[in-house]
Amino acid sequence: MTAFHQVTARRGNIIDGAGYAKALRDRLAAHVANLKAAHGLTPCLTVVIVGEDPASQVYVKSKGEMTQAIGMESRTIRLPDTTSEDELLKIVDDLNRDPVVNGILVQLPLPKHMSSLKVIDAINPDKDVDGFHVINAGKLAVGLDGIVPCTPLGSLMLLKDAVAAHGDTLAGKSAVIVGRSNIVGKPMAQLLLNQDCTVTIAHSKTKNLAEVCQGADILVAAVGRPKFIAGDWVKDGAYVIDVGINRIEVATPEGPKGKLVGDVDFDGAKDRALAITPVPKGVGPMTIACLLNNTIKAFCLQNKLPVPEGV
Ligand code: GUN
Repeated sequence: MTAFHQVTARRGNIIDGAGYAKALRDRLAAHVANLKAAHGLTPCLTVVIVGEDPASQVYVKSKGEMTQAIGMESRTIRLPDTTSEDELLKIVDDLNRDPVVNGILVQLPLPKHMSSLKVIDAINPDKDVDGFHVINAGKLAVGLDGIVPCTPLGSLMLLKDAVAAHGDTLAGKSAVIVGRSNIVGKPMAQLLLNQDCTVTIAHSKTKNLAEVCQGADILVAAVGRPKFIAGDWVKDGAYVIDVGINRIEVATPEGPKGKLVGDVDFDGAKDRALAITPVPKGVGPMTIACLLNNTIKAFCLQNKLPVPEGV
């Protein structure tokens, strides 16, 4: 995880996540080409989607296209929402045993009649490219090398790069993460703790949330509520990572239109922040790039090959 894209990935204080992700994908494509040339093997990612959730369909399509674009093999298993949990567990078990499949991702959310914890638990941790399995969560918690969840990993890459561009480091900084999900909030806290930040996880029951946020040198918003973090909750000179992707309707002369916004009131925060991720084109593109990163890492570990530098 090197700061290879410093300064060029930024316009003013706006962090160019899309540009950083493209540079990362280019590096990963080179790794894939090298692996093919040296060993005649191609990493394979299989994504399983259950049901018709429109947002999930878009994400899964994009994951497949990006996987192919860097030269890896992409497989997608689409299942109807009438699929039983046992049927899904059997499919996961088959993928665990399939030597061609290096990475397994079961798209969340799952239909209500399934337990996502149970399904994630069934994935072989070595193929768990989401980094959601308790083995990978536990490795992160104790500082062992495992597979790190994609959104926090991508957020950390952007943050390290932005901090380094200001000639600074993360050590000793006060980091506040708003949101305590297993997918983002908790692993983000572990990553920042491993970087020697002083970490607070805030959530819906936190008292004086505005004040807590105002004390943050690093503010990570992962609540899933549009513009929930007001501009004046951001300390002057803070680094702001907005993980939220919320679709809202805005009035236009042509009628109401859909628009993507983050969890932070970007316009209110951008002149206070030293660096801030926009939505879209901030953290979002990093999530898929890091999924590809994790698949290459899983492939190398499974084939007892050295993991390429920076992966
Ligand atoms: N749904 C939304 N984000 C994610 C993710 O990162 N992984 C999986 N498996 N499902 C998701």
